Amino acid sequence: METKNIYLIWAHPRRDSLTAQVVKEIQQQAEDQQITVDTLDLYRMDFDPVLRMQDEPDWANPHKTYAPEVHKLFAQMQGHDTAVIVFPVWWYSFPAILKGYIDRVWNNGLVYGEGGALPFKKIRWVALVGGAEDKFELYGWRKNMSDYLINVAGYLGVTDVDVTYLYNTIGVEEDIDNREEHYQALFTQSREMVKTL
Ligand SMILES: Cc1cc2nc3c(=O)[nH]c(=O)nc-3n(C[C@H](O)[C@H](O)[C@H](O)COP(=O)(O)O)c2cc1C
Repeated sequence: METKNIYLIWAHPRRDSLTAQVVKEIQQQAEDQQITVDTLDLYRMDFDPVLRMQDEPDWANPHKTYAPEVHKLFAQMQGHDTAVIVFPVWWYSFPAILKGYIDRVWNNGLVYGEGGALPFKKIRWVALVGGAEDKFELYGWRKNMSDYLINVAGYLGVTDVDVTYLYNTIGVEEDIDNREEHYQALFTQSREMVKTL
């Protein structure tokens, strides 16, 4: 299935971050391919990631009413066939604001459970990794993250899922001679991901 509409979710405190630049590259590439992109910038919208009582699932009632923000963001996802989720790897996981988005918005009765469904047919995770690829592999972090991200999507019925890792964003664990060239290669890698959609 060819992608027509992307729902792009991203998490980074800075607008001038590498993560933000990767988001721009993805938006630009999608535009070049005539794919519509709607973007959810979790930090700039000041998303509250803390799941409180109001958003706790009631396992006996899939029709529970959650916070208005949750229903609003759930409605916003509709009509998009693909989700692209961009984030920096923090402690071999994703930023709390993104975890909280999933905790609260991807809720029971909305995206899973009785009557629930995620609108996406495809999910692409894009993870910016500070360190080097070999260490990420060696200590099992890549497998760990991929298993987790792919299985979360699978639990929600999405099997067309992939994770793109952009390595060496800091360039400390591995000598990067030409930082600008390295970042350009990461941007190209991000664009290539969009070309496969
Ligand atoms: C709280 C925190 C935790 C981090 N944990 C990791 C980590 O577990 N592994 C890693 O390779 N890099 C880690 N990093 C580095 C980030 O992945 C890196 O800063 C990011 O990919 C760079 O992109 P940015 O310029 O958009 O922030 C961490 C950074 C922060 C701020």
